[in-house]
Amino acid sequence: MSDTASAVLIRGGTVVNADREQRADVLCVDGRIQAVGADLAAPPGATVVDAGGQYVMPGGIDPHTHMQLPFMGTVTADDFYTGTAAGLAGGTTSIIDFVIPDPQQPLMDAYRMWRGWAEKAAADYSFHVAITWWDESVRADMGTLVHEEGVNSFKHFMAYKNAIMADDETLVNSFRRALELGAMPTVHAENGELVFLLQQEMKAKGITGPEGHPLSRPPAVEAEAAQRAIAIADVLNVPIYVVHVSCAESAEAIARARARGQRVYGEVLAGHLVVDDSVYRHPDFAVAAAHVMSPPFRAREHQAALWRGLQAGHLHTTATDHCTFCAAQKAAGRLDFSKIPNGTGGIEERLAVIWDEGVNTGRLTPSEFVAVTSANAARLFNIYPRKGCVVEGADADLVVWDPAGTKTLSVATQHSKGDHNIFEGRTVTGIPTHTLSGGRLVYVQGDLRAEPGQGRYVKRPPFGPVFDALSRKAALQAPTAVARSA
Ligand code: URP
Ligand code: ZN
Ligand code: ZN
Ligand code: ZN
Repeated sequence: MSDTASAVLIRGGTVVNADREQRADVLCVDGRIQAVGADLAAPPGATVVDAGGQYVMPGGIDPHTHMQLPFMGTVTADDFYTGTAAGLAGGTTSIIDFVIPDPQQPLMDAYRMWRGWAEKAAADYSFHVAITWWDESVRADMGTLVHEEGVNSFKHFMAYKNAIMADDETLVNSFRRALELGAMPTVHAENGELVFLLQQEMKAKGITGPEGHPLSRPPAVEAEAAQRAIAIADVLNVPIYVVHVSCAESAEAIARARARGQRVYGEVLAGHLVVDDSVYRHPDFAVAAAHVMSPPFRAREHQAALWRGLQAGHLHTTATDHCTFCAAQKAAGRLDFSKIPNGTGGIEERLAVIWDEGVNTGRLTPSEFVAVTSANAARLFNIYPRKGCVVEGADADLVVWDPAGTKTLSVATQHSKGDHNIFEGRTVTGIPTHTLSGGRLVYVQGDLRAEPGQGRYVKRPPFGPVFDALSRKAALQAPTAVARSA
């Protein structure tokens, strides 16, 4: 048996897609799923995986990661190899990371730099590109990225004033251009002016530790930005995807807009679903600082609202915002919480945490789990069913999932190079036994066989399914002048 065999037959499992479950074998040949059906024969030389009693699901897609990110004066501990390898160990086979140009930096220069860094990825990857400033060259580069590079989503940070924050003028220009190109605008929704003001106020009161982080980024600050972005998108008739929705108020803003018929989509982080804000009051600076990420972890009632949002369908995807900074890096904010590099990990743990807290509690069915961990991201970012679906012709990115397997999550056993695990000590039931990436067995019962450079860049075509509907609606509602006699 060899993990490099070009054929792998997964026998005897229950295949779970977002629309149904079926007992079926899955045959993977040369990186693709060749057949899904009963009693498939193993081709000569094929590796056979016995999945009896287990689920066979599309590999996770993490639509929000930051590998090798230069941010707040330092660079994340995980690069594209170590971060994607950690993902494979947890059943995640694709990431969508972010190209984040500095203000005034040409988009194409930043894009090429990130593409170079990502060449060592062990799993498939794609990029959202951040719009951090605006001029005619940015408008033109957005077109090049969409038409020639397979980018179909643009990110806007409404926070991080004096750094990468996009003002309303930039949002308006970029959203309108994205619509023209058939690309999805996405937003980090926090009011950067209010965050800046509240940070100064907390420090003036003598609150300089990590507890100042959530105090300067309360739910209302997030909700205001979410509502503003949604309102701008409504006026311009563009779809909008809100990343890392962390609080009830933002989830409600999305639900209200959807109830009015607006095409708004929400992403939730595994961390925001299960970690609460008590972490920021930990007496040890290093522990509290390890949890500094934006938006911050919230009080428990917000977690319940996020789970309800996933159940109700007004929140669509789950991600991690995997962005690891170690204690020595977090120490830059020892005397000033606003200087603690923002970010936490979780790419390896996301699927297990969401299965354990979602499926085992009856909040999600296995098919709903597939929807929120893989299929919905593939649909929204227009790579479905190549990704996100166990179907003939799709990429052979799969996870074999043991619903009875257990594991205690810990920094001591994680593959990420981060030195903290936000899920430390949590025992989960439901873990991957095998991960296939492009038809190769890259994780087998604890044995991680990830290799640098095995991941491929995934081009995503523009004009996903919602764009045609939006243009029909716009045509019907087109403003008209009144013809008057002179
Ligand atoms: O704290 C975070 N989330 N760091 C990464 C950058 C971002 O805002 O997504
Ligand atoms: Zn963000
Ligand atoms: Zn992020
Ligand atoms: Zn912790």
